[in-house]
Amino acid sequence: MHPVLLVLAITKTHPRCPSMLLIVISLVQIWCTISRGEAQVVQQIPQNQSIPALIAFGDSIVDQGCNNNLTTIVKCNFPPYGQDFPSHQSTGRFSNAKTPPDILAEALGIKDLLPAYLDPRTESEDLLTGVSFASGGMGYDPVTSKLASALSFSDQLKLFKEYISKLKRLVGEARTRSILANSLFIIVAGSDDLANTYFTFGGRLRYDVHSYADLMVSYASDFIQEINELGARRLAVFGVPPIGCVPSQRTLAGGPLRNCSENHNQATQVYNTKLQSKLNLLSQKFQLSKIVYVDVYNSLLHIIQNPQDYGFDVVDKGCCGTGDIEVSVLCNKLSKTCPDRSKYLFWDSYHPTQKGYEIIVNQFMTNYISRLL
Ligand SMILES: *[C@@H]1O[C@H](CO)[C@@H](O)[C@H](O)[C@H]1NC(C)=O
Ligand SMILES: *[C@@H]1O[C@H](CO)[C@@H](O)[C@H](O)[C@H]1NC(C)=O
Ligand SMILES: *[C@@H]1O[C@H](CO)[C@@H](O)[C@H](O)[C@H]1NC(C)=O
Repeated sequence: MHPVLLVLAITKTHPRCPSMLLIVISLVQIWCTISRGEAQVVQQIPQNQSIPALIAFGDSIVDQGCNNNLTTIVKCNFPPYGQDFPSHQSTGRFSNAKTPPDILAEALGIKDLLPAYLDPRTESEDLLTGVSFASGGMGYDPVTSKLASALSFSDQLKLFKEYISKLKRLVGEARTRSILANSLFIIVAGSDDLANTYFTFGGRLRYDVHSYADLMVSYASDFIQEINELGARRLAVFGVPPIGCVPSQRTLAGGPLRNCSENHNQATQVYNTKLQSKLNLLSQKFQLSKIVYVDVYNSLLHIIQNPQDYGFDVVDKGCCGTGDIEVSVLCNKLSKTCPDRSKYLFWDSYHPTQKGYEIIVNQFMTNYISRLL
C-alpha cells in the first residue's frame, strides 16, 4: 500500500524537501516517538511506601530494547544512541541515555535501570522488580503496530501472561498476586497512532479526528481492562504529548518556519480529552484499582514555550544530525551530535534527551505518584 501513499503524504506536507532521496529516507525515520539527558534531582517516593516493581507497556518512550531482535526499522541499538548512557553503549533505548522507565524505577527506589523483557540478559531475579514490554513504533491502533512491525498491545499482553507464569514459578501464586497488585504499571502510547497512522500515512482514511480518537480510546480501554483482570491495580496511563511540536512533525507539517503543527496538536487534545473521560469511567468501574491519567501534553508544551525556565537553548530541533528529521536508523554513526545535550529538549527528531525525560518524570513524582499509592 504505502510507498506511494507515503511519498504523496510527505511531498504534500514537506514541499521544501530537497530531493526524492531525502523524501524516501524520511519515511524511514518518521516512525519513532519522543527522548533526553543530564543529571536532575528527581523526587523520591516517601520512605515508608513501597512499590515492588515497575512494569511498562507501550511505545518507544518506554522501549528498553524490545525491538533489538525484531525485524523492524524502528530500532536504535547503534551509536549515537546511548552516547551518555552509564555504559556509553546503545541498548535500544530511544535517547542519548536513560529513558522514563529507568528514571522512574530509580525514583521509586526499585533499581537503576529497567530492563527489556525480551533482552536475553534479563534474569529471573529482574522479573521480580519489573521489566518493560514496550516496542518502538507501536500504537493502540493495531494498524500502527503493523506499519512499524512492532509489538502490538496484544503481543505485549501475551508476553505479560508469560511473565506472570514465570513469576508464579519463581515465587508462588500469593506473592505473584501481591507483586501485581502493588506494582506501578505505566502505559505510554498513542503518539504513533496520530503522527504516523492518522496524519502521515493515511492508514485510516475513513476516519476523522473524532472517530479516530474514539477508536484509539476504545483499544486503550480494552487493554487496561485486560491487565486489570490479570491483577494490575496501580495504572498510570499517559496522554499524548504535543506531537505537532516534535521536531520531525514541525519539519513535515509546520510550514516553512517549522512552527508547531496546530492540526496535530488539536487532534492530540481531542484524543487526550476522550482518554481522560474513559479513564474516569474505568476508575468508577474498578474501585479497587487506581487508574490515573497523566497529562504530559501541558508539561511538554510549557517546556517548549518557556525553554529558559528549564535551562534549554534548543527545543525545536533534535541533537542528532540536522535535528530536523533524523530518528531511528537515520540517526546513526554518521550523524554528528550537538556538543551539549543538556541544552537540548530533544535528542532526535522525535524523542527527548534524558534531561527532558527527567523533567517529565519529576513532575510525575510531584503531581501523580501519591494518587497511585
Ligand atoms: C508514611 O509516613 C507519612 C509521614 O511521614 C504518614 O503520613 C503516612 O501515613 C505513612 N504511610 C504509611 C503507609 O505508613
Ligand atoms: C536475538 O535472538 C537470538 C536468537 O533467539 C538470541 O541468540 C540473541 O541473544 C538475541 N539477541 C538480543 C539482543 O535479543
Ligand atoms: C510561525 O511562527 C512565527 C514565529 O515563530 C509566527 O510569526 C508565525 O505567525 C507562525 N505562523 C503560523 C502559520 O502560525
